[in-house]
Amino acid sequence: MTTSTKIRPMENQVETTPTMEQSTGGVATKSPNAIELAVIVPTYKEVENIIPLHNLLCETLAGLSWEMIVVDDDSPDGTAAHVRELSTRYPNMRAIQRVGRRGLSTAVIEGMLATSAPYMAVIDADMQHDERLLPQMLDNLKSGEFDIVVGSRHVDGGGLGQWSKDRVKMSELATKVSRLVFKSNLKDPMSGFFMITRDAFDGALRNLSGEGYKILLDIFASSPEPLRFKELPYEFKTRQFGESKVDSLVLWEYGALIADKLIGKFIPVRLFMFAAVGGTGVVIHYTVFALSFFLAGLSFMTSQIIATLVAMTTNYFFNNILTYRDKRKTGLRFFTGLASFYLICSLGIFGNVGVASMIYDQNITWWISTFAGLMIGTLWNYSASSIFIWDKK
Ligand code: GDD
Ligand code: MN
Repeated sequence: MTTSTKIRPMENQVETTPTMEQSTGGVATKSPNAIELAVIVPTYKEVENIIPLHNLLCETLAGLSWEMIVVDDDSPDGTAAHVRELSTRYPNMRAIQRVGRRGLSTAVIEGMLATSAPYMAVIDADMQHDERLLPQMLDNLKSGEFDIVVGSRHVDGGGLGQWSKDRVKMSELATKVSRLVFKSNLKDPMSGFFMITRDAFDGALRNLSGEGYKILLDIFASSPEPLRFKELPYEFKTRQFGESKVDSLVLWEYGALIADKLIGKFIPVRLFMFAAVGGTGVVIHYTVFALSFFLAGLSFMTSQIIATLVAMTTNYFFNNILTYRDKRKTGLRFFTGLASFYLICSLGIFGNVGVASMIYDQNITWWISTFAGLMIGTLWNYSASSIFIWDKK
């Protein structure tokens, strides 16, 4: 902090907080300045939205003791640095900057872990959610009747604003699918706007998947006890600055979340995705081989080499954007990763052929032997590339 900066009195500071609940139990005295509410704001490229959002929060939360935690995934527009700079003027604001990672849900989880506030809200940076609900959400939680209060577009008085027909349909379908992993009459499990008590969050914490976008659904599906919830209506507003990050891959991430909740206890979803991508690689391999060998009349060897290279490359590409979407490589790292992937897969072939022939030598039928070889190859490729490619910065 620069010493010359004149610190404005914090609008949110209060002298005493007589209503502060002892919900965390045991602590007899609390500092009157203890933060009561943390507003977690996940961001990716939202630099223009920070000041307007902070202003709105200051207005709505005046008189309360609160903080704003921006969890930014190293946005190229400098969102995190911008927040740090502002925090010298507004000490109730801070940034968590994550490098080499992406993901809305994990951002929210880490934001919640970084605060000691007993109540935590999640709100998008782009002001599409109605921040004026926050005091009412807080009052509801303080009453002790609820664990979580959700800003809902699907209860009377709420609405989707200017959503396209396709997006409305997709959201409806996603809501139906969510019933697979948790049963409740929550009307808007897809909402990204809610407030939760620390106790309820702690209860779900260790079961959270952290996949994709739908942190609210994740929390509901991960809670050991059904959550006592309330939905408050709001109208989804139009974004003014920046753009939405929701793209077709969000659907894939949603699938990953549901899959993790359904089968995650038995098989890691990533391994499952990796194997599925491998399956497409097999199809691509045969297609390219057929084109080279039969159509272009290249030799068997040349055709096989081309097919292998193409399939490895497409496998790498799909794994990068699907399986490891949250750690995807871009720029130069994309190519160094590709080179490592070629190397790892080449070693995988040795394992595959070795194991397959060893089993075949035991007089075990050909398809079991080749299948075992494939499994070993896939497991090796998966483990090695997880560690040496996508876990590396
Ligand atoms: N840290 C981080 N990492 N933040 C992200 C990422 C990411 O990978 N992707 C998106 N965000 C941030 C955005 O910067 C924004 O503040 C917020 O998450 C929501 O992203 P949008 O791209 O604006 O999503 P949306 O408006 O289409 O959908 C939102 O509203 C829906 C309805 O409540 C999301 O909150 C959805 O989850 C929600 O269903
Ligand atoms: Mn948005």
